[in-house]
Amino acid sequence: MKLKTFLFIVLVAAISGFAESAIAQAKTLKITARYLNIPVAARDERAMMRFTIDGKTEREFRIRLASEKPDYHVFCDMEALRGKTILVEYEGNPAGLSKITVDEAIAGADSMYRETNRPRYHFTVRRGWNNDPNGLIFYEGEYHLFFQHNPYEREWENMHWGHAVSRDLIHWEELPVALAPDKHGTIFSGSAVIDRNNTAGFGKNAMVAIYTADSPEKQVQCLAYSNDRGRTWTKYAENPILDTKHIWNSKDTRDPKVFRYESGDYWVMALNERDGHSIYSSKDLKKWTFESHITGFWECPELFQLPVDGKSDNKKWVMYGASGTYMIGSFDGKSFTPESGKYYYTSGSQYAAQTFNNIPATDGRRIQIGWGRIEQPDMPFNMMMLLPTMLTLKTTRNGIRMFSTPIKEIDLLFRPEANVQEQSAEAASKLLSRFADSACLRIKTTLRLSHATSAGLDLNGQHLIDYDMNFNLLNGVFYSPDEMTSMEISADIFLDKTSVEVFIDGGAYSFSMARKSRANNKEGFRFWGHNIEVKKLEIYSLTR
Ligand code: FRU
Repeated sequence: MKLKTFLFIVLVAAISGFAESAIAQAKTLKITARYLNIPVAARDERAMMRFTIDGKTEREFRIRLASEKPDYHVFCDMEALRGKTILVEYEGNPAGLSKITVDEAIAGADSMYRETNRPRYHFTVRRGWNNDPNGLIFYEGEYHLFFQHNPYEREWENMHWGHAVSRDLIHWEELPVALAPDKHGTIFSGSAVIDRNNTAGFGKNAMVAIYTADSPEKQVQCLAYSNDRGRTWTKYAENPILDTKHIWNSKDTRDPKVFRYESGDYWVMALNERDGHSIYSSKDLKKWTFESHITGFWECPELFQLPVDGKSDNKKWVMYGASGTYMIGSFDGKSFTPESGKYYYTSGSQYAAQTFNNIPATDGRRIQIGWGRIEQPDMPFNMMMLLPTMLTLKTTRNGIRMFSTPIKEIDLLFRPEANVQEQSAEAASKLLSRFADSACLRIKTTLRLSHATSAGLDLNGQHLIDYDMNFNLLNGVFYSPDEMTSMEISADIFLDKTSVEVFIDGGAYSFSMARKSRANNKEGFRFWGHNIEVKKLEIYSLTR
């Protein structure tokens, strides 16, 4: 074969191969209304979509554009671009391009928050995916919940910071996306602070987000700031502010948790790097000095101080990672020194929990929100946040331990329905089963065992409580009541459409899980165990 012919064949092959995978099909759209509604189907492959305005890329993301019937629609809030004409390019099957619409409403807005499997008192995103809570902060009467978010599909991809605000930690209003991917990468987890004294020069009381930008090469730490209560954000022009891959010989350097170290008058960052949490310090949020590193933690660091048994003259520091396993110790502003073993206070679906910065001293609580890794079947959104909880340190027979209880604001959501004491398992099961069809319930109960060995409460065959006094297992995980000879166990149970959260013995331990659908079992609630007594049973329904 002559060289020319060979080259021609290679060229043709290259072009035709390229045409199949990456040549984008395009469509122009005039932004005449607030939202773009884009059809998505799980059976279509993910491919890159790009918006171009006046020759400049406005955004690009990976999406499964529905080539035929969509599973659901996702939306882009285009308010800031109203009146412009955009070029939409797609590298995958272009059949769905013609079905992207411009509308004043989000597709499906009429049933928003009333979908069959939409949790009723837990935060969920309107459309797409959420994982970790990010940038939890209280400021000027509002709690801010930022979160890991894929606006374009109900699966993990295209990480953004979504945003919601609340005045009571219970009713959340979702706002437009706060941070979108840029040249440094997608926006991974991080935290937020209020820069009262303008140490960074972004303005007095600027809300500053410190987050990880993730790219195929590395993870670096970046800043963005807002001077309008988190409504609009500007990325710091000199990002990244921390790039440590070469030091750790690892791509895993992420999830900065920053707080003001009051006794030192500087900022502290806990950052997960490779095999544990590093501590950095800074005067201005921009230049960071490495101080120390402690191994044994993975992702999403937390570090905060709590009084022991509510006594402000005896405070300890708590450090944990994404799983929630924690150590108690001391912190001198530079390094954390554990003074305990490593313990757990929760298990099940919770991951990557974060606590709020900037809670007023008059409140003084350490409030936490965790990601609930719970599937939302057949919904245009996926995952959820678990209930906000209050963390405390208490002295137990085994030493100081962290307790987690639902915040008191949650009480306002529930109305008492029944309250009985000293019931047989049969009588209590019968009473509770009257509420078995309620999607949402709160049940406070105390079981008293009198014979070995196990006792519990089921709903339609699913173990809400499964206590084995012999092996000291609670739903499969080791648990011993602080009074280890006690034959009682108490639980505060929250049922929502798709989730179960259970707080045991005043928050000494908690667990959460997906609520099983009840298609093939309709036995209702059933207390079980050899001659058990239901010492207490309080039933509450949702007030709205
Ligand atoms: C934890 C985590 C973080 C990371 C984020 C990405 O769930 O893996 O470490 O920043 O999720 O979405």
